[in-house]
Amino acid sequence: MKNKILVTGGTGYIGSHTSVELIKEGFDVVIIDNLYNSEAEIIDRIHKITGVKPVLEVFDLCDQEKLDIFFKKYNDISAIIHFAAYKAVGESVNKPLEYYRNNLLSLVNVLDAMKRFGVSDLVFSSSCTVYGQPEKLPVTEDAPLQPATSPYGNTKQIGEAIIRDTTVSDKNIKAVSLRYFNPIGAHPSALIGELPRGVPENLVPYITQTAYGLRDELKVFGNDYDTPDGSCIRDYLHVVDLAKAHVVAVKRLIGRRNKTNYEVFNLGTGKGVSVLEAIKSFERVSGIKLKYKITGRRAGDIEKIWADPSFANKELAWKTLSSLDEAMKTAWDWEKNIRNKKG
Ligand code: UD1
Repeated sequence: MKNKILVTGGTGYIGSHTSVELIKEGFDVVIIDNLYNSEAEIIDRIHKITGVKPVLEVFDLCDQEKLDIFFKKYNDISAIIHFAAYKAVGESVNKPLEYYRNNLLSLVNVLDAMKRFGVSDLVFSSSCTVYGQPEKLPVTEDAPLQPATSPYGNTKQIGEAIIRDTTVSDKNIKAVSLRYFNPIGAHPSALIGELPRGVPENLVPYITQTAYGLRDELKVFGNDYDTPDGSCIRDYLHVVDLAKAHVVAVKRLIGRRNKTNYEVFNLGTGKGVSVLEAIKSFERVSGIKLKYKITGRRAGDIEKIWADPSFANKELAWKTLSSLDEAMKTAWDWEKNIRNKKG
């Protein structure tokens, strides 16, 4: 019998790519999503890519009664990958209560249901934001966490703590937190990818929308940082590589190969890339000269961060395979595809 995986937020950016990889590896996928930031049509696109249509149940995880009804209906879930959350850093500053309620209540409800319905394995979508500006680079999992600079970041820190405390109090619960660095790109089919609502906050969608003519120009937030070219440095990884890490983490939990009941992994390439280098990569793969200008720093930005992914490389036997250029090319192909224009 196939193992059935519940993917919360499975029609979102990383959730949809992970659902594809799970199906490719022979898992049954059931998605819960409230479609707050995604479309039900993504299910058809996952079907097109994999030949399998995952089940979609549309409701809000903050509604515990609906979650109970779900677990009574699906009493054979092997593991949960929990993506469902709000993720806009800037928005979270203006709507902290919405962020705390949505991101934390949904997580508490999921953990509570796991205990009551006997589901033991959880993979949690965390972020490198928990490190703030680390003192030592590349950053390892044991680096001290810094106070979060946004309510969004705080929900990731608190979320990790809630999970850790639950695994301490209940030895039946096993969990993995995956701290993503900066996911970019799209599925090579260009059928699924990142679809920001309104003006993008993140760099790569802003680049591709500018190149497509939807934005006048990209603003590069600062060139006076203590980095080789003065712009901020991040660790950009291809979303398909990231999705595959979730499959490995689920297999590790289901196969009882976890070393402790709560494990944390950095997921990144191990390579720092500046904003100006990211722009050059885009220009290389698209052949387009991007319009951009240097502006002031963005409040809350950290100067530089990149991962030490060696723990995930060793323990999960996972590493990123795609280059920055490959990831950028898929981001550009996706942008052109959704705007329905060949370019
Ligand atoms: C932020 C969060 C991260 C979250 C991610 C996705 C922090 C520290 N990081 O990442 O946890 O998972 O968003 O929502 O809170 N840039 C420009 N111009 C732009 C946009 C971005 O120059 O128009 C620069 C930024 O200054 C930064 C880099 O591009 O140096 C990446 O920015 P972005 O894509 O927003 O990601 P992070 O801020 O790294």
